[in-house]
Amino acid sequence: MADNKIFIFDTTLRDGEQVPGCKLNTTEKVALALELERLGVDIIEAGFPISSPGDYESVNQISQNVREATICALSRAVKKDIEVAAQALKYAKRPRIHTGIGTSDFHIKSKFNSTREEILERAVQCVAWARNFTDDVEFYAEDAGRTDNEYLAKVVEAVIAAGATTVNIPDTTGYCLPGQYGEKIAFLKNNVSNIDKAVISCHCHNDLGLATANSIAGVIAGARQIECTINGLGERAGNTSLEEVVMILKQHKHLDLHTNVNAQLLNPISRLVADTMRMPVQPNKAIVGANAFSHSSGIHQDGFLKDALTYEIINPEEVGAEQSKIVLTARSGRSALAYRLQKLGFQFNRNDVDALYQSFLQVADVKKEVKDEDLLQMANEYQPQTEVA
Ligand code: KIV
Ligand code: ZN
Repeated sequence: MADNKIFIFDTTLRDGEQVPGCKLNTTEKVALALELERLGVDIIEAGFPISSPGDYESVNQISQNVREATICALSRAVKKDIEVAAQALKYAKRPRIHTGIGTSDFHIKSKFNSTREEILERAVQCVAWARNFTDDVEFYAEDAGRTDNEYLAKVVEAVIAAGATTVNIPDTTGYCLPGQYGEKIAFLKNNVSNIDKAVISCHCHNDLGLATANSIAGVIAGARQIECTINGLGERAGNTSLEEVVMILKQHKHLDLHTNVNAQLLNPISRLVADTMRMPVQPNKAIVGANAFSHSSGIHQDGFLKDALTYEIINPEEVGAEQSKIVLTARSGRSALAYRLQKLGFQFNRNDVDALYQSFLQVADVKKEVKDEDLLQMANEYQPQTEVA
């Protein structure tokens, strides 16, 4: 396997679906899974089968319908969970069981009232049990972001020895800084003797707005899988956003890392997920927000109209978005006004545009955005100035 390929593990249907109000039925989940496969993700986390009969059924149906991507099912470090996950995955061409346990002292003491030694033992047992059902077992060390690195390395080494083929290092609470998260991955690379036998995975939450930055720091430090969701959906402030990591790796070619994702499908799938999950995308969201390719201030518009590269690092076509927009507001300048008038079929000279600009500002100060119908009215009412003899 090429060492510079980053596996995209999509968890929109599991972590993303945990968002209040985003619950999906089986038909919706299967339809989205097929679109995720078309997008080119490598692994689809389809659900948490023990959590409800509906989720079990969704994992089962997705396993029957998706043929290329690996289908993953979540479980706790509990034998019954793992068995139910395996059962739900029984038709999958490429099944993966994702099992694990909290490894930070917060989890060990407060959640499990246990000890580091006992948790390590449970981690090994759950991986060994899962290996009875599939060769593809991913272990998650929940709250790895706040887990002591020495202890985390011990757990990771033990679960790989027990058969884990992917080790997931979640920053469950979104606490880490990019430098810290990258160092954690580097620490595991340097201190786990059998680390070459497993893929390291980043699973970062966005509580401090750092999920994407942390995932990128993780792959720079040697992780080779990113767990992410469309539109960054997920528990609380969300997960790493798929479209962001894909485009960061595409933009920064010097990193020499790539994914299998077809970027032209990013905007269509973002809209599909937003509609199906009834969760609108914030307008200023990178790559897929309504304003991601809109220019509204005079300085930006003037530069953009001279050369798009002055204010755009991505061509909207590359990510399946509509053409860049010149939005007219009270902050817009004459070149943007002239451009929009020209698009509407008017050929005004510089003096006319200057004169029209004054009426434009009056409208713009009242309205938030000056639309085509306003421009048409202005242009049609305009009387070109005639020279006085
Ligand atoms: O955030 C997290 O730790 C998780 C695990 C269950 C992988 O979602
Ligand atoms: Zn999570």
